[in-house]
Amino acid sequence: MNSIEERYRAATEKSAQLTKRAERVMPGGDTRTTTYYRPYPLTLKRGEGPFVWDVDGNKYIDLIGNYTSLVHGNAYPPIVEAVSKAVRDGSAWPARSEAQIELATVLCERVESVDRVRFCNSGTEAGMLAAHVARRLTGRKLILMARYGYHGSYDDLEIGLAGQDGERTMLADFGEATVFEALLSERGSEIAAVFLEPILGSAGIVEPPAEFLGRVAEAAHSAGAMFVVDEVITLRLAEGGGQQIFDVKPDLTMFGKIIGGGFPVGALGGSEEVMSAFDPRNRGTIFHSGTFNGNPVTCAAGVVSVRELTQARIDKMAKQAERLAAELTRAAGQVGLPFSVRHYGSLMNVFFLKEPPPATIAREDARAIASFHLAALNQGLFLAPRGMIALSTVITDEVLNEICERAAKAMADVAQAGE
Ligand SMILES: Cc1ncc(COP(=O)(O)O)c(C=O)c1O
Repeated sequence: MNSIEERYRAATEKSAQLTKRAERVMPGGDTRTTTYYRPYPLTLKRGEGPFVWDVDGNKYIDLIGNYTSLVHGNAYPPIVEAVSKAVRDGSAWPARSEAQIELATVLCERVESVDRVRFCNSGTEAGMLAAHVARRLTGRKLILMARYGYHGSYDDLEIGLAGQDGERTMLADFGEATVFEALLSERGSEIAAVFLEPILGSAGIVEPPAEFLGRVAEAAHSAGAMFVVDEVITLRLAEGGGQQIFDVKPDLTMFGKIIGGGFPVGALGGSEEVMSAFDPRNRGTIFHSGTFNGNPVTCAAGVVSVRELTQARIDKMAKQAERLAAELTRAAGQVGLPFSVRHYGSLMNVFFLKEPPPATIAREDARAIASFHLAALNQGLFLAPRGMIALSTVITDEVLNEICERAAKAMADVAQAGE
């Protein structure tokens, strides 16, 4: 055990005890693979604004906001107010609510390709639903997506993380338009849909070449396949999402994370024509149900979350991210660590490699990033174990200064530990 791990263990004894208890009732004490790390993950107790606290009373600056979903930080007062009001009227009904109509309206207003919305409870479900619609409407089976793209944990889409084709899924490298075009031209008659994130999230915040999304969309349409854009993360990058930034018009859009204002959520959107596949007034339409679809409390939170994510706030976060990336690079240089960073808007991923790697899940710098992650926790910074950072609108410039100082200390700790 090195000094970083020793310090982590010493500061988080209650989390260690709760890990033992959790292990008796959940496999490995865990219920969310992405958030697991060694020696044991923290147990958190509370969040407020840009901070979270663990059960040992340690305070951390929250640099991941529940993997991008808390775009206004923890317990954002306008959301707490909206939710408190909503929940007093009951937590769920088997009927539409006004909040549901309002959230659907906000999404239709913001995202140009979306005229109609169907709610579900996670980004994963939105992906399942998109695949289902595309297969029903095209009568085809295959899905084409980016290698290391992530659209949730539905088998036919999660296979992207494995990096190898599955039974019903073909993969091509993100950014390689000609490869997508060739596959769509050769196997197009079998392909129901092409799924793409405008910017790869899990695979390390990878930006596509300028023409990439447009060319794939065109090739998909020429092949008679549907083009699905996954905005689960990227809706935070522009009022109209990644599709606005890269100027593409998908047939279907997946939503999640920020549209629930911190609550479980997912949605699928598209044109009136495509989405009429769900219209219960018509015969033979798609059966899609869910006890918590369009939950009134979630929708009340979501309306505030999306409405308050203005372009001015989006731009401010992007500027802060730019400064943070530069400060992190400088700090790593000062202590002689190999370091690189990729960022887009408020999203960022750090690498302990001289050059950022191509889109990947298996990281060559796995040991160094694990070490930095623990060192950062020791310094009171809570980021994703893979080095992903998502800023929120409640991070002030003073908090940003603090982040830069603490990150520099964490880097010095890593350099000293010789990891
Ligand atoms: C781009 C993208 N799509 C889909 C999902 C799945 O969403 P959920 O975790 O709500 O199922 C995620 C989750 O991280 C994601 O990043």
